Amino acid sequence: TKRPILIQGPMPIEAENFAERLENVEIEESGSTFEFYIGTVDGYPVIVSKTGKGMENTAAATAIAIEKYNPAAIINQGTSGGHDPELNVFDIVLGERTVNIGSMKTGDRVEGEGIEATEWKPMDVMASEGSAGEDPNAEKARYYEGDAELLAAANRVNDSYTQGKIVEGTIGSADLWNNEVDRINWFHKNYETSVEEMESASSAMISKAYDVPFLAIRILSNNKTNDGAYNPETAAANQEYVYEVVQEYIAFL
Ligand code: 5AD
Repeated sequence: TKRPILIQGPMPIEAENFAERLENVEIEESGSTFEFYIGTVDGYPVIVSKTGKGMENTAAATAIAIEKYNPAAIINQGTSGGHDPELNVFDIVLGERTVNIGSMKTGDRVEGEGIEATEWKPMDVMASEGSAGEDPNAEKARYYEGDAELLAAANRVNDSYTQGKIVEGTIGSADLWNNEVDRINWFHKNYETSVEEMESASSAMISKAYDVPFLAIRILSNNKTNDGAYNPETAAANQEYVYEVVQEYIAFL
């Protein structure tokens, strides 16, 4: 039997359009929040996972899916907020890299010395098995690379998408919604982020732990750096593009 392709979406509007396009669907639940739509695309097994929002839900949903369904590849997709002023609402970022932008170590300040968020350093919890707070090797961001074959399949179907442009870039994830443009610019400069959202780096970390090929595909639903107003219709547009990517990827398996 063939190993399925796993497509993750956090919110109902980010998973249900794709799930509706599956053939022969059966729904399986895990716990009270994780839903898996098990079906096929062009006769090939594909599972849509509604993960819920945020890093914890996503890590759990990813581990559950890998243990239960043994996927051949994982795509985490959904909406995001722009960090790059060149990117507009409806543009899509293929995650050449994903990075956790919420994992940080603060400066050393005694009582009364204040809170200086621009001095906080990235913290890599996977740098060693020792204390991340004490280990100088942990003072760096960990970037997870998007799988080359998934990226290539995505790039081959770029022309099918007409609602914006498609670029490769860096996707930053955290349980955080930044509305301070100076802080957004700080991430753009220091982490080279194209967009932010709340899931991809979490799924990338767990996919890597099990050696499963991974790619994040994120559409901009908003961009504070160029007054791009939030548009929830982007979620459906992204799923249509990801459907094309999946068809292209499975055609070569
Ligand atoms: N910041 C953080 N998350 C965002 N999302 C869309 N735009 C942003 C943004 N600017 C996504 C997250 C989460 C939901 C709130 O929408 O991934 O699932």
